Amino acid sequence: MKAVFPGSFDPITNGHTDIVRRALSIFDTVVIGVLENPEKETIFSTAERVELIKQEFEAEGDKVVTASFSGLLVDFVKNQDAQVIIRGLRAISDYDYEAQLALMNKTLAKNIETLFLITSESSSYISSSLVRQVAKFGGAVSELVPAHVEKALKEKFKR
Ligand code: PNS
Repeated sequence: MKAVFPGSFDPITNGHTDIVRRALSIFDTVVIGVLENPEKETIFSTAERVELIKQEFEAEGDKVVTASFSGLLVDFVKNQDAQVIIRGLRAISDYDYEAQLALMNKTLAKNIETLFLITSESSSYISSSLVRQVAKFGGAVSELVPAHVEKALKEKFKR
């Protein structure tokens, strides 16, 4: 069975990698869908975000597929021949937004289910936006993101 894990991944964090690895114990294949949204400014381009994810899951072979998408998530899920969307839930504050997304996706596609995984305790406070903030001001992000992502952040904010 195949599941889609969608997000902006600007950049991928240890919270995301934890969810993907745990999803792999339930699903045969996890497709990581990287949203390409011209209206939302990101520090990493879509190609860069995809590349950073691919590097992380190189050892997983074709059990993890990374692709970008634009438009509706449910259309991407259908195109990938999947029926499950995975989302990570950190705290109760995530719930409102996540419930909105899940219910909207349910309205758009009745046969697609959203499955929530609670993040591990150690990554429950990590978000890409906080990681970007910390990295921008030269703080240490080594416990928050994979090493190659930390390197890419340092490069990005060097300029
Ligand atoms: O990591 P993020 O930024 O919280 O992920 C949000 C994402 C990509 C899952 C969401 O914005 C999305 O699905 N966008 C695609 C557009 C869409 O399908 N919208 C309708 C559902 S509300």
